[in-house]
Amino acid sequence: MTKLIQWQQIEDSRVILRLDLNVPHKNNTIESDFRISKSLPVINELLKRNNKIIILSHLGRPSVEKKEPSLSLHVVCDHLSAMLGEPIKFINQITDKITFGEHRIVMFENTRFYKGEVDNDPELAKTISSHGDVFVFDAFGVSHRQESSTTGLMNFLDYAPGPLIQSEVNTAKSILEDPKKPLCTIISGAKISTKITLIETFSDKADHLILGGGLLNTYLQCKGFEVGDSLVERDLPQEVLSFFESESAKKIIMPTDLVCSADASLDYPQIKSISMVQSNDKVLDIGTKSIQRYAEIIKKSSTVFWNGPLGYVEKKPYDNGTESIINVLADSNCFSVIGGGDTVSVIENMGVQDQISYISTGGGALLKYIEGKDMYVIEKLGL
Ligand code: 3PG
Repeated sequence: MTKLIQWQQIEDSRVILRLDLNVPHKNNTIESDFRISKSLPVINELLKRNNKIIILSHLGRPSVEKKEPSLSLHVVCDHLSAMLGEPIKFINQITDKITFGEHRIVMFENTRFYKGEVDNDPELAKTISSHGDVFVFDAFGVSHRQESSTTGLMNFLDYAPGPLIQSEVNTAKSILEDPKKPLCTIISGAKISTKITLIETFSDKADHLILGGGLLNTYLQCKGFEVGDSLVERDLPQEVLSFFESESAKKIIMPTDLVCSADASLDYPQIKSISMVQSNDKVLDIGTKSIQRYAEIIKKSSTVFWNGPLGYVEKKPYDNGTESIINVLADSNCFSVIGGGDTVSVIENMGVQDQISYISTGGGALLKYIEGKDMYVIEKLGL
């Protein structure tokens, strides 16, 4: 029988450390090392206690057969090694015997290159477990997945939650259980049906709800506004329609103006009042008056939870709404929690990450946790 232990008490051991180093990357270059930097504390602390570390992580969703070279963890390994100032030995085959030699850290290839990982195959978990003495799980971002390198390993080795997952869960709990009011929730994304549980979870607790992206367009369309050729969700489930009619939907703050473009290149942005959008327009961001309106609400809030950028941040100037609201949060004293990779990338590019109270490493995992979905990994870790 394996048991739950404390990661701070692990010494002189071979520690299998599951991290979430699934970072955005292109052409062998890491585009955001936020998740890597958040993994440094557990590594440094484990090294201080004379442990050897065997790092596991997934990267993307490769096929076991193809093992797409672009999803190799090599580039992440080099980046982590540079950030730590410590050489890391890279190991391709999960069956290879580990010899640390001069190294204190080794890293296996992308766990999803190994057959059985995503099916939580116990044989694979057993093979991985043979390399270590204990298991530390500090990969909040993947805590909603039951895979061999997440829950599987806990059946073979004593296991402990690391400091990152502990602080992620504590922060999410504080927002859910005892948010300092007024609470403002900003939720954006492509499809409202995928975020409706999140919206409903917050709709009782929040004083104000701000919607963005496809969620906002869909809401405006349901309220009878023209949204032209914008991203909207059709065939809405009854749950969404009922929510729009509910008392809680009155907490949704209506934007007053929007940034639209009618040309395919999106090179000619126009700010329009919400009643002036034409059938050939694409709504791509919130306008300056809406930004002011949202900013006033945020300035009066004690807690802000934000998931998903407000506009089409991939192309300027449609990132203006998101950047402006980030600046408001950065200057405010409220407790702000932001999750979701796209918003985090904008924050990093602006260099204001230290002015936001908490930036989560969790995308889907954070949403699932807040929605109150069963999270076996978190339960098993006693969090
Ligand atoms: C994420 O980026 O949300 C996590 O790393 C989980 O990745 P997955 O959705 O591919 O399991």
